[in-house]
Formats: sequence, structure tokens, C-alpha cells
Amino acid sequence: MVTMDQPAELLALAVSVARSASDLARRMRADGVAAVATKSTATDVVTAADRVVERHVRERLHEARPGDAVFGEEYGGESDRAAVRWILDPIDGTVNYLYDLPQYAVSLAAEVDGVVVAGVVRNAATGREWTATRGGGAFAGDRRLAGSGETDLAQALVGTGFGYAAQRRLHQARVLAGLIGHIRDIRRLGAASIDLCLVAEGTLDAYYEKGLNPWDHAAGGLVAAEAGALVTGLDGAPPGPDMVIAAPPGLHPALHDRLSELDAAGGP
Ligand code: IPD
Ligand code: CA
Repeated sequence: MVTMDQPAELLALAVSVARSASDLARRMRADGVAAVATKSTATDVVTAADRVVERHVRERLHEARPGDAVFGEEYGGESDRAAVRWILDPIDGTVNYLYDLPQYAVSLAAEVDGVVVAGVVRNAATGREWTATRGGGAFAGDRRLAGSGETDLAQALVGTGFGYAAQRRLHQARVLAGLIGHIRDIRRLGAASIDLCLVAEGTLDAYYEKGLNPWDHAAGGLVAAEAGALVTGLDGAPPGPDMVIAAPPGLHPALHDRLSELDAAGGP
């Protein structure tokens, strides 16, 4: 049974767990990155920390709420069903983590009956933290977020990212080649969850990416949406693996239409 205050309660737990998880990730980073393995391609890496941090989050969630399901990047659990399901990326921005670039995050969202109702993204390197509850707004600390006021695509600073497979990256590069002459500039910061939070605070005007997984955008997508951004896929589709676009309402149509013309959701 979902009560009115449940999103706030879920967020409080998410924040507490994300803080201890990001402390753990940062400590492990300071000790040096160990035991790097690869996943889908030779550049899709997983470190010992990705796994240790995911296990830590799972243990803490299980202690606090043993009946909930957890769907995480490293240990799966997509098909586990429960009224509350947590969606976790233990380290979003693993390549930045590997290189010690301070742009990697713990991303944790709570879904109730299939709808994301609370989310936290915490940059583990810097301690910056963004939160949101459905209908309750988006925040960076105590500051309520409202996104960028930009309405001119030609003036927009747009974040994006690239997948790990060469053929997908080539398609994404072709889309970017068709976009970059129509915007102010592009940023590829390396952690989708943080990119979405930067749209929420207006330090990026907009963001798009093909190929995201639920753990990349569940929490950050709620933060962006609660800051007033439209978070969609292409051509009426919901945000998902084919496309995630996050942009303020005054900018979204122009970016969306350009990406649609460029078949940004197509390709491998
Ligand atoms: C990746 C990052 C990156 C995005 C990739 C994601 P990971 O997640 O969010 O910015 O471009 O699509 O896979 O592998 O670092 O958790
Ligand atoms: Ca990850």
C-alpha cells in the first residue's frame, strides 16, 4: 500500500545509502583502482569498486526494507517483482572513475508500482548531491532547481554521451556531426546521471543520449523532470534505450525535431 509520505521516506533512505556508498567508492578510488574486467566491449570496464559498492547498497537496502526488489547494473535483478523496486548504478561514470576524473556518481532511484517516485544522484568525487521526489520538486542540497531558461537551440550547451560499441559510437558521431552546427557547443562529461542533474540545475541547457540503461537515467531523469525539464524519447516514445532527451519546454521541441531528422534513435 503506497502512502502519501512514501516518496519522502524512500528518498531519505536513498540519500543515506547513497552517501555511505559514495564514501566507499571514494575511499576505494584513493586506494587505487583494482581488478578491472570488461563487459560488453573491451572499453566497457567494471572495477572491483563497482561490485563492492553495489553489494554495499543491496545490503543496506535489504536491512532497512527486506521486502523490496533491487535492480542494479552489476548484479541485475530486473525481473524481481515487489511493490518497491530500487534502480541502482553503483558507479555511473566508471571510465572517469578509472582515470580519476572527478565526475562519477552513485545513482539510486525508488520505483513504486513501476513509477519512479524518488531519486538521488551523488557525485562521489565532489560530494555534490541532487535529489527529487515525484511531485515534490528537485533539489541540489536545499536549493530548488528550475533548469535553464534558454529557448534558442543555437545558444544551447548540450550534453551527450556515447555507448561502448564501435558501430553505435559511429552512428552517434554522425548524429553529433549533424547537430553541432546548430547548437552553442557540446559537452561529454562521462556520467549520464550527472548530465541529467546538470540539466535540472541549468548548468547544461539540455542533454540527449541513445543507449542508456534504466540505472543511468532513473534517478537523474526524475531530478530533471522535477526541475521542469521534459524528459522523453523520440517521436512520442518514453525515455528509454532508444533515446533520452532532457530539455526545458522552451528548448525541447527544437532539439527533439533536429534529433528526429538525424535519426538519432536509429542505428545499432
Ligand atoms: C555510462 C555513462 C556515460 C554514458 C554511457 C553509460 P557507466 O555509464 O553514464 O556517460 O555515455 O552511455 O553507459 O558505464 O559509466 O555506468
Ligand atoms: Ca555503472
